[in-house]
Amino acid sequence: MHATNLYLDLSFLPLPTLLGLLCLGYWASCVVYNLYFHPLASIPGPLWWRATRLCFIRSFLSGRLVRDVLKIHERYGEIVRIAPDEVSFADEDIWQAALSGRNPLPKNPTFFTPPPGQANGLLTASSDVGARIRQVMMPAFTERALSKQEPVIQLYAGLLVERLKERVAASSSPNQQAIVNTVDWFNWFTFDLVGELAFGESFECLENAKHHPWVDMIFSSIKAAAFAAVTRYYTGLETLLLQIIPTAIRKRQMEHYTLAVERIHQRMSAPPRDDFMRPMLENNPDFKKMTIPEIEATMSVLIIAGSETTATTLCGICNHLVQNPTQLKQLEQEIRSRFQSDKQITLHAIQNLPFLNAVIQEGLRLCNPVAGGLLRRIPKGGLRLCGHFLPEGTHVIVNSTAMSLSEKNFHRANEFLPERFLPESMRPAEFENDHRNNQKPFSLGVRSCIGKSFGLAEMRLVLARLVWEFDISMAQDKRLDWNRLKTYVMVQKDTIEIAIKKRDREHEKS
Ligand code: HEM
Repeated sequence: MHATNLYLDLSFLPLPTLLGLLCLGYWASCVVYNLYFHPLASIPGPLWWRATRLCFIRSFLSGRLVRDVLKIHERYGEIVRIAPDEVSFADEDIWQAALSGRNPLPKNPTFFTPPPGQANGLLTASSDVGARIRQVMMPAFTERALSKQEPVIQLYAGLLVERLKERVAASSSPNQQAIVNTVDWFNWFTFDLVGELAFGESFECLENAKHHPWVDMIFSSIKAAAFAAVTRYYTGLETLLLQIIPTAIRKRQMEHYTLAVERIHQRMSAPPRDDFMRPMLENNPDFKKMTIPEIEATMSVLIIAGSETTATTLCGICNHLVQNPTQLKQLEQEIRSRFQSDKQITLHAIQNLPFLNAVIQEGLRLCNPVAGGLLRRIPKGGLRLCGHFLPEGTHVIVNSTAMSLSEKNFHRANEFLPERFLPESMRPAEFENDHRNNQKPFSLGVRSCIGKSFGLAEMRLVLARLVWEFDISMAQDKRLDWNRLKTYVMVQKDTIEIAIKKRDREHEKS
């Protein structure tokens, strides 16, 4: 036999076909490697998700990733592979393994990267820079600071209630009932409040009962940023995409940042006040501990991190309360029997109300605003986590949502049952075996939520004032299934309506 017969002669193929075949061959060999030879090959997950990143990206872009990964956990277990180089953990040991101690896993730069031209702020900073920034900011987020901020929080909670009362008074329905979109009202409340505390001036959304154009801009720029993040899974694609992203979107992102920076500088030159910026100006001589670009980046992100999270949770809680009249009644009883006037509803007075706190915990469990979990990346040298060796660069999700919604952790996991979070002496026996320790909506460790106390205080106050002032119920035919909402980093909520009317004190007596 002639030696050349051993080779496949492909010279008759046109060049594009040949290139196409080469690409296909390369792709097929990657698939085989990912499935059988990759260091993560032993971790279970659906075949095509393990084989290529495309399933993950398709799910992410359609806003269904959180739900899809949840289903994968239900089918394959607590540790699952959801892309060739990504593992999602719903194993309770992951909290300690990934997030606690002095050297927790670094945040995943695929998602935690500032937009081009902007500095790193607290949210995106590396561990050591983050620790330095937190040290400066911390005095604005203690319980002591919170009590100094209380007059401002009360002011905006009061304004929210007044505006809602006007809606009820203007209602033409026979029982003086107004239908309100909680998404608007809670967003207006949280944006106004955080605007006031971060920049020294509110967005006046509640005052005007409408969105500030900046707030719309923030929403669209977050979605754009989430889409841009996906390109970082492929080296070089981001640079290419940045050329393709319509200049309008890039312009909007820049406009947001420029506006934020303008307001930040206005606040910096104003007299001292008890807000989020105070320690950055007072405990930070010559801006050495926290530089001006770091302040700009941190404050512009704080507007989103400090408002969208609480607004989402409040919407979720109200949506569940109106669908669960027994739990709503119990909350009404607790609030209405405790206070004789709205003036008595102070942050201190509502701090330890058992049912109110249980409602918030249950709301955070079912409607976690950081629904995609905690996104981390394995550092140089690789690491062993929960019994698996993960090579350097592996994407890791600490999947708080999967843990919160697992029947293994919570009895009747998909139902809204705040009773499970009552103090032990008041808790029904059926929730005895719930793993409440797996519920950490504010994360843990050195990068846990800096605004936890502030966010909890806001939510307690708004719910207490709302229930004290109004009878709330489900707007006719408006039963919303929270699980159907899409998530693009933030939960996408267009309209979540409830009915409110003036509290019927006569009826309460009877
Ligand atoms: C329901 C309310 C809230 C929830 C569930 C929540 C949850 C979280 C979580 C889970 C993280 C960690 C993210 C990660 O490491 O990947 C985080 C970080 C953060 N949160 Fe919150 N948050 C809430 C409200 C707030 C508020 C009110 C503020 C500020 C006023 C705030 C400011 C921040 C900041 C600045 C970080 C970054 C901290 C760091 O990287 O060191 N959050 N939050």
